[in-house]
Amino acid sequence: MQAEHKPVLAQRILEMAVLQPDAAVVDATVGFAGHSKMFAERLGTGGTLVGIDVDQKCLEVARENLKDSKCKVILVRANFSEIGEVLRQNGIELADFILADLGICSGQLADMDRGLSFGTDMKLDMRLDERIDVTAADVVNGMDEKELADLIYKFGEERASRKIARSIVNYRHKAKIKTTGQLSDIICSVLGCDPKSRRSKIHPATRTFQALRIAVNDELGNLETFLNAIPLLLKKQGRAAIISFHSLEDRIVKNNFRANKASGIYNLITKKPIVADRAEVFENPRSRSAKLRIAEKI
Ligand SMILES: C[S@@+](CC[C@H](N)C(=O)[O-])C[C@H]1O[C@@H](n2cnc3c(N)ncnc32)[C@H](O)[C@@H]1O
Repeated sequence: MQAEHKPVLAQRILEMAVLQPDAAVVDATVGFAGHSKMFAERLGTGGTLVGIDVDQKCLEVARENLKDSKCKVILVRANFSEIGEVLRQNGIELADFILADLGICSGQLADMDRGLSFGTDMKLDMRLDERIDVTAADVVNGMDEKELADLIYKFGEERASRKIARSIVNYRHKAKIKTTGQLSDIICSVLGCDPKSRRSKIHPATRTFQALRIAVNDELGNLETFLNAIPLLLKKQGRAAIISFHSLEDRIVKNNFRANKASGIYNLITKKPIVADRAEVFENPRSRSAKLRIAEKI
C-alpha cells in the first residue's frame, strides 16, 4: 500500500498535547503513524504509545514507521469504539492524551482491496475492516429505493439523493453494480460530470460515496461510542483531540464536548474548531476541511 500520508494540523496538535516524556498517549486512528511518530519523538523510555486501527494494512505501515521509537509502542487492530477494552487488556488505566483523526488515509483510497475510490475503477466494497459482512455493493444492490435515498441524504447531505437512488434502482434492473466506476457513472448520468458545467468543485460522486462509507462502517455510531468512553479513560487534565472532516462528524464531536462541559467533566480548550492555515492547505489539500476540537478532563 502507498505509505505516504501527511498528518493534518500536526504542529497545532503537538502544541496542544503538552506531553511529558512518561506520558501515555492513545492514537485511536493510527493510520500510517504520521501523528504517532511525532508523539513517539516526544516520549521517552518511560512513555507509552497505543496505536489503534481497524485496518491491518495500516497497522503494518505504522509498525514500520514506529520501529525506532524509544517509548513502548502497542499497536492493536480494533475499532476505536472498543478503546476501553484495548486499554484494559494492555494494562493502561488512564491516558494523558487521546487523538482521533477521523476518516481514511490517502493510501486506503488507492487500495484496490478497499474499493473506496471513484477516481479509479475498483470492486465496490468500502469496508475498512473486512470482518464487517455488508459491503457497499450489497447496500446499492439490495436496499429499496426510499431507504437508499434516505441514506444518501442523511449521510451524504446530497440534495439529489432521490434522483440518484432512482437511477441506481433503474440500473440494477439491467445489471448488478459491482464496481466504483459503475456507481460513479450512474451518479454522473444524473448530475453531469463535466467540471466546467458544475458549480461545485467536488466530484458529483463525493457525497454518495461518503454516505455509503459512513453506513457500511457505521462511522457515526462508532464515533459516538468512542466519545462516550473517553471521559473514563483520561487522567485529570488529560486531553482528547478529535479531527473531523465533514459536518456530520464535527456536530457529534461538538455536541459531545459541550454536554460534557455542561456536566462539569470537560473544559473546552477550543471554543471554535482549529482549522488549517492557507500554507497547510496548499501543501496538503486534505487539510482543507479538517476541524480540530480539543477538550480537557477536569
Ligand atoms: C485519516 S487516517 C489517520 C492518519 C494518521 N493520523 C496518520 O497521520 O498517519 C484514519 C485512520 O483511521 C482508521 N479508522 C477509521 N475508522 C476507525 C475506527 N472506527 N476505529 C479504528 N480505526 C479507524 C482508518 O483505517 C485510517 O487508517
